[in-house]
Amino acid sequence: MCGIVAAAAGKNIVPVLVEGLKKLEYRGYDSAGLAVISGASIERVRSVGRVAELEIGSANTQSVTGIAHTRWATHGVPSERNAHPHVSGSIAVVHNGIIENYESLRRDLTAQGYVFTSDTDTESIAHLLEATLKREPDLFKAVQITCRQLVGAYAIAVIDHSQPGKVIVAREGSPLLLGVSDTGNYAASDASALLQVTRNMVYLENGDIAELTATSVKITRLDGTPVERPVHVSQLSAAAVELGNYQHYMQKEIFEQPEALANTLEIVGGSKSIQPGIFGADAANLMADVDSILILACGTSSHSGFTARYWLEAIAGVTCNVEIASEYRYRTSVANPRQLIVAISQSGETADTLAALRHAKSLGQMKTLAICNVPESAIVRECALRFITRAGPEIGVASTKAFTTQLAALFLLTLVMAKVKERLTPGQESVYIDQLRHLPVAVNKVLELESDIEVWAKRFADKHHALFLGRGRHYPIAMEGALKLKEISYIHAEAYPAGELKHGPLALVDADMPVISIAPNDQLLDKLKSNLKEVQARGGELYVFADADSEMAESEGVHVLRLPEHYGELSPILHVIPLQLLSYHVALVKGTDVDKPRNLAKSVTVE
Ligand code: F6R
Repeated sequence: MCGIVAAAAGKNIVPVLVEGLKKLEYRGYDSAGLAVISGASIERVRSVGRVAELEIGSANTQSVTGIAHTRWATHGVPSERNAHPHVSGSIAVVHNGIIENYESLRRDLTAQGYVFTSDTDTESIAHLLEATLKREPDLFKAVQITCRQLVGAYAIAVIDHSQPGKVIVAREGSPLLLGVSDTGNYAASDASALLQVTRNMVYLENGDIAELTATSVKITRLDGTPVERPVHVSQLSAAAVELGNYQHYMQKEIFEQPEALANTLEIVGGSKSIQPGIFGADAANLMADVDSILILACGTSSHSGFTARYWLEAIAGVTCNVEIASEYRYRTSVANPRQLIVAISQSGETADTLAALRHAKSLGQMKTLAICNVPESAIVRECALRFITRAGPEIGVASTKAFTTQLAALFLLTLVMAKVKERLTPGQESVYIDQLRHLPVAVNKVLELESDIEVWAKRFADKHHALFLGRGRHYPIAMEGALKLKEISYIHAEAYPAGELKHGPLALVDADMPVISIAPNDQLLDKLKSNLKEVQARGGELYVFADADSEMAESEGVHVLRLPEHYGELSPILHVIPLQLLSYHVALVKGTDVDKPRNLAKSVTVE
């Protein structure tokens, strides 16, 4: 989704703006632009396409104050005239989010004589601010007045060539943080854009507005009340967002999973037992009378929730429902104050998940837990309890290591709930903890299948559809496999619980429809084999991921790859990895933009 970078420093900031935008590319965008103060005017460069083109276009631009933006089209097609920054009089504005009252603002401003040159909601902010400056010449105060008239979600950054040397930023609903240093002050949508200049980050709250100069930072609320926000020293390493020897971020992130899991599970330490405290100081108290769990999430994060449902009900004996956040927030549901609401999100900023969480709280459901990869994100801040997955920054749009670390976190939740419900003996607990500790090693072994999967991937190059089958706790893994394949290779893929085949989808099966099946050696294997026979009998080509000890033979039209070991309850964490690798290699064969698939954004901060 859109990204913002802004800077006020003692030296030329154009390279900082461009480098910052490159670091935000992973969020997804279709056009980019920057504006700087150049003498008594604003110099603006915009381009459709990659930041690299903007870099060329701005090669001769120099300034100490500027703003930059990557746009993900919402209002108006991707085009240069819709790209940010938008200019009105002496000011330029970049904006992330959606202004809901932009139509009425546009009508009023047009009546006042302003001429709109784009289809965006953002241009209304630019003209509104320009109109406000006629009454209130101080830029900081004028932005406060302007923001009070905006309805919706925004993070904005503004410069004014008649008040050089300062950048004003404000946030309501969309992410924005400051980077502070001795040589300049900066703002961006996330920390990765600013690690090039500083590690000292200040997270703005909703309703905050800040004025940055090369030597000062001033923060107030929208009504002008001064506020102090703490400086956090970012633990992100710049290397964590570098590609290194890998071809794509997605590939790098798939291979980082052993480390990401080890880091996430470090919280368990050397102990043979885990305590509710890993979810927050108040967890034991809050979980004591929990009678059920409701998981809220979108996309891949919802698939971790659907998997956890099997664990929570089977191991902890706690009723668990999973709802797609964008549906839950708008349906009338029965509130249960004893229910634990678990919001799962890698970014912690997904607008639908955040709104669903707020909706649950508005119904009096105050027992809330965030499972998230970004510690300072909105979802984490708004939940009573938290578990931070330690996957490190995930740059590829297709989520991989964030997913497996979410699964690890949800398994820990299962064990804690099982203990709270007195359903776990110390012996069982210690066995599960040992299995969790062994996970990074087990994942490493699965990654060794890459070259075999590459061979399979070539056979998908001319396919337009694929079916993914799983049973039990591996059905959500089949859903995740189908989502990965469709989002990065653009092959239409659907997932079914294998038992459902004969209730409809079998009609689709023929030689052109590859069927990918997850076949762990569990109690459903024999039933799954019968389902696979149904596919084989219709001439379908089967690609089966079995366990080392599964009795699954290769035959005409049946290809089998074996995972090194059967991993019991935690098997979904291993079985998703070959599916990630398969989508990655199919996308390579098809030549798609693996890390930035068309039409998709990494952090979906609008509804
Ligand atoms: C798919 C993917 C998305 C996200 C979804 C929710 O690979 O990444 O489906 O899972 O947009 O995002 P988060 O987890 O940030 O809330």
